Amino acid sequence: MNPDLMNLSGKVAIVTGAGVGMGAATARLLAARGASVVVSDINPDTATATAELIRSAGGKAHAVRTDVADEAQVEALVAQTVATFGRLDCAVNNAAITPDNLPIHEADMAVFDRVLNVDLRSVMLCMKYEIRQILSQGSSGSIVNIGSVSSVRPQPNNAAYVAAKHGVIGLTKTGSLEYAGRGIRVNAVMPGAIDTPMLRGALETTGNTEADFAPALSLFNRFGKPEEVAEASAWLCSDAASYVTGHSLAVEGGYLTR
Ligand SMILES: NC(=O)c1ccc[n+]([C@@H]2O[C@H](COP(=O)([O-])OP(=O)(O)OC[C@H]3O[C@@H](n4cnc5c(N)ncnc54)[C@H](O)[C@@H]3O)[C@@H](O)[C@H]2O)c1
Repeated sequence: MNPDLMNLSGKVAIVTGAGVGMGAATARLLAARGASVVVSDINPDTATATAELIRSAGGKAHAVRTDVADEAQVEALVAQTVATFGRLDCAVNNAAITPDNLPIHEADMAVFDRVLNVDLRSVMLCMKYEIRQILSQGSSGSIVNIGSVSSVRPQPNNAAYVAAKHGVIGLTKTGSLEYAGRGIRVNAVMPGAIDTPMLRGALETTGNTEADFAPALSLFNRFGKPEEVAEASAWLCSDAASYVTGHSLAVEGGYLTR
């Protein structure tokens, strides 16, 4: 037994959408476990704030503004990571935007395209440049793509989000097949209802409260905390998960068991 397998010292990680919510909690946890973390977000102010929190806690972090829907910006994110910390070992591809909230026959195709770009095509772009970098180092690595319970259980009026999140699992499994032989693991985490700005926004839109929603969405009758999802991503990034690839790990308070 090696009790230090969860330790990420010496590893360099990217977390996208790390300004707030689960991305911020994940960046902080990876840094607390010893990783040097590139905190990336489309919002430079929140990315900088997360990086400052990490540094004030004694960790190593660098903030980079990136729109993950833009190929040139994703390529630049990986290049800046290498310029700052010298290499890349793991990435949590977390950035996404909220569900579309319209039935299919009323779909706004501009919204559909934007959701697919930010929630699915971005995962392909991130994997493309992250894996390219890890291969160029000749090292092992770990990619974690953030899906959703919507990756396996569709909900009405969310066609774009559901399609994108199903697609994230397809990309994850494809990546695991293509790179297992070269030491790169590719897994997904599927959060359930987690208390973040995204979920608070959905409550506001629908006029619901946690008490209304949580019993239907969790066996624990509460929303999950961003830190509870971060634990799963940190484990998948670490050498403790060395025999795990192509897996989709639900962190959803038992929602999918019903
Ligand atoms: N909160 C939930 O209940 C829930 C449930 C299932 C899955 N998820 C997934 O978990 C992940 C994190 O969700 P969250 O709830 O923390 O979200 P959030 O909305 O609270 O935070 C998302 C972050 O991503 C950033 N972002 C948005 N568009 C971006 C872009 N184009 N490029 C770069 N950054 C961008 C935002 O600025 C924000 O900082 C997402 O993939 C989401 O789909 C969330």
